[in-house]
Amino acid sequence: MKLFADTAIIGEIEEVSTWGIISGVTTNPSLIAKSGIALTDAIQKIVNLVDGPISAEVAEGNATDMVQEAKVYAKMHKNIVIKIPMTLEGVKAVKQLTALGIKTNVTLVFSTSQALMAATAGATYVSPFMGRLDDLTKTDTAGFELVKDIKEMFRTYGFKTQIIAASIRHLNHVDQSIKAGADIATIPFHVLKEMLQHELTDKGLAIFREAAKK
Ligand code: E4P
Repeated sequence: MKLFADTAIIGEIEEVSTWGIISGVTTNPSLIAKSGIALTDAIQKIVNLVDGPISAEVAEGNATDMVQEAKVYAKMHKNIVIKIPMTLEGVKAVKQLTALGIKTNVTLVFSTSQALMAATAGATYVSPFMGRLDDLTKTDTAGFELVKDIKEMFRTYGFKTQIIAASIRHLNHVDQSIKAGADIATIPFHVLKEMLQHELTDKGLAIFREAAKK
């Protein structure tokens, strides 16, 4: 499973880019607002830090408007992927962008039916939102089941669309993404840092440090 950074904060992307293990970045309007810079400025900076798919989200609207906006972002850099909301107009836009050779990431996916429609339209990626689905269902398994079911569906019907496990809130979501067979997980900065840690690693290092002194 590839690791993407789910952030538009340039300082965070600068730091994770030095780790050498981040293959892409996803942004959304909330993350852009948090970053304090405009989407186009963020794109310019991010493409220079990470050489991989960078998702830039268009504003929800009719297919024509979304395609127009998408073309502007796609022209900015070869790595730009257009994030499109999972609506009927979004599906139409994905179909048109696919025909133009522009990559898409269909976002706000909460069911296998939505994923099927997005994949049928030619989406390069679908982003099932684990955390928000768990919140809605008040469980800690609904997001996992969704990613697992989409994976199985894509395998059964031979879709090439890749699954980006999104709305990841904690380490358990990362483990669940791996178990469900997600192609990619897009992960907030604080969870990426938590992934490096284990109390027994710290304990083991302390023991080795003491031993080294002797
Ligand atoms: C990424 O593509 C999604 O926009 C993001 O993971 C959503 O996360 P949230 O549910 O924590 O806002």
